[in-house]
Amino acid sequence: MSAPLVKLNNGLEIPAIGLGTWQSKSNEVTAAVEFALKEAGYRHIDCAWGYGNEKEVGDGIRASGVPRSDIFITSKLWGTYHSRVEECLDQTLANLGTDYLDLYLVHWPVPLNPKGNHPIFPLLPDGKRDVDHSWDLKDTWKQMEAMVQKGKVKSIGVSNFSQKKLDEILPTAEIIPVVNQLELHVYNPQHKLVEYLRSKDIVPEAYSPLGSAGSPLLSDETVLDIAKKHSLQAADVLVGYLLAKGMVVLPKSITPSRIASNLSGAVNASTKLESGDIEKLDGLAAAGKQKRFITPPWPVDLGFDHWPSLL
Ligand SMILES: NC(=O)c1ccc[n+]([C@@H]2O[C@H](COP(=O)([O-])OP(=O)(O)OC[C@H]3O[C@@H](n4cnc5c(N)ncnc54)[C@H](OP(=O)(O)O)[C@@H]3O)[C@@H](O)[C@H]2O)c1
Repeated sequence: MSAPLVKLNNGLEIPAIGLGTWQSKSNEVTAAVEFALKEAGYRHIDCAWGYGNEKEVGDGIRASGVPRSDIFITSKLWGTYHSRVEECLDQTLANLGTDYLDLYLVHWPVPLNPKGNHPIFPLLPDGKRDVDHSWDLKDTWKQMEAMVQKGKVKSIGVSNFSQKKLDEILPTAEIIPVVNQLELHVYNPQHKLVEYLRSKDIVPEAYSPLGSAGSPLLSDETVLDIAKKHSLQAADVLVGYLLAKGMVVLPKSITPSRIASNLSGAVNASTKLESGDIEKLDGLAAAGKQKRFITPPWPVDLGFDHWPSLL
């Protein structure tokens, strides 16, 4: 079983299902990546410098025996490196043991103080995260574009960018981001933002498609009813729903049976779901179930709907 391919605005293609690696422990992620590639048919791995496990992901990629050229690898620029994009990217390339990425994303539209009191999460004396307010996102994007020109990455995109944040970089961008990786699932569908991305030919990538660890989505009544009707599992419906909407979906698991079914079951579900099912799932959040699970305490207005108010 392989995932369908989605066309990017630069003509390249991305496998519509990628294995998530956030919170996969270093001692677990190598086997998960190896299994996903070698046994389950995955050809897309979603990584980030900030996850602290890229070396072990790279070990899994090599252990799989699947040629590098057959694998779509994404990684992300961490906040303390917005003014030093190449430095962060070079660390990622060395960690993963590759000389190029298929896709490099700005992880959050939040530049952090590169000279703060911590290399990953610098804090101010009041305990708030130490944001570099003097740094302009336009300049981060310029450095991202330079990485394409240098051949270190094939495509570039963003993550966690609202329309407001995209509008800060698009007017001066020479390369339009190919994707925007966002929290997208039945409880946080962000219909308006997704429509905006479609109008700009930016592919929405769905992170936390199952609602992340300890998710209530897997026991949602509507999801379970639809799963039962088609003899599917709840997770198949959750991932298949996003696939059917033409998104790229990034389910994370370290459990072999789940890694396998999150691809094969979801592709199967995407063909079985009927328009009435999709309509019901599309309407769950508006009917009172709207919920975000990933809301780090950035002390800046990200411009998202349904984000907790700043203190
Ligand atoms: N750009 C960003 O800021 C950002 C933020 C969050 C996530 N992401 C990306 O998106 C990926 C996915 O998001 P996520 O890790 O938050 O959450 P997720 O994929 O929605 O959920 C992962 C959780 O669901 C469990 N699970 C996986 N498959 C299952 C199945 N078939 N049935 C029941 N439970 C299942 C996993 O457990 P086991 O692993 O124990 O099987 C894990 O606890 C991340 O790993 C990362 O690559 C990006």
